[in-house]
Amino acid sequence: MTLAIETEQLTRTFGEVLAVDQVNLSVERGAFYGFLGPNGAGKSTTIKMLTGLLAPTSGKMTILEKNPLNAAESLEIKRRVGVVPEGLALFDNLTAREHLTFVGRMYLLPPDTLQERIESLLGLMRLDDEEKKLTLEYSHGMKKKLALAAALLPNPDLLFLDEPFEGVDAVASRELREMLARFVARGSTVFLTSHVLDIVQKLCTHVGIIAGGKLVRQASLDEIRHGGSLEDCFIELVGSDTQSAQTLDWLEEGG
Ligand SMILES: Nc1ncnc2c1ncn2[C@@H]1O[C@H](COP(=O)(O)OP(=O)(O)O)[C@@H](O)[C@H]1O
Ligand SMILES: [Mg+2]
Repeated sequence: MTLAIETEQLTRTFGEVLAVDQVNLSVERGAFYGFLGPNGAGKSTTIKMLTGLLAPTSGKMTILEKNPLNAAESLEIKRRVGVVPEGLALFDNLTAREHLTFVGRMYLLPPDTLQERIESLLGLMRLDDEEKKLTLEYSHGMKKKLALAAALLPNPDLLFLDEPFEGVDAVASRELREMLARFVARGSTVFLTSHVLDIVQKLCTHVGIIAGGKLVRQASLDEIRHGGSLEDCFIELVGSDTQSAQTLDWLEEGG
């Protein structure tokens, strides 16, 4: 079994805040891995470290059997990885086609290949009828689709997606799910974060649950289901926050 991602005691602090606390991830090649946890659990911080956007405070990482903290190996990893980061990282004043052209050139794709892929991605994401719009005029869902198109452009072995379904409508969400399922079916690996159980349950083969910066469970979805539902597992590990509901009693009192 080869691993696409492995971390040892991966840790990141922000001042006093321990955002990611000694996390040991193990993601098999070809897995559709869902990194699940409540808001503020440390998901985005982890994905930023895995993709080289943020330096770890301590710990080790291996991505596609290479060390991202080594400059030469890090470049090799970047060639084979696609990322949709938390902030999407689009350029406001470019059209979708211009953005994809720019990204494709950074990946040094041959011009013919780039053209062909841009056409098919624009069609697939239904961004081709919005040719003249700049990304700053896009809706949130369209921006997400463009960011995903840019991440798929290099035909990566490993795709990192931070909350890919957040703010995406039901139609686009189904298309996105089907596309990602096809991507994994041909042997690539997806690592996505989500705070939505249902999405992870529908899509993922493997699940990691993070809470308060700590990885509290990591297993195949089947293994988790065997011992009950993912929801039960999640609530048990993460705990339900009844406090917040209680403090809103006044909402039910009426005027
Ligand atoms: N740049 C930052 N500076 C300070 N604190 C941060 C920063 N980024 C994240 N944090 C803190 O780290 C914790 C984890 O955040 P994050 O990884 O964004 O969570 P998630 O993506 O799971 O919602 C939170 O407590 C958050 O406030
Ligand atoms: Mg996040």
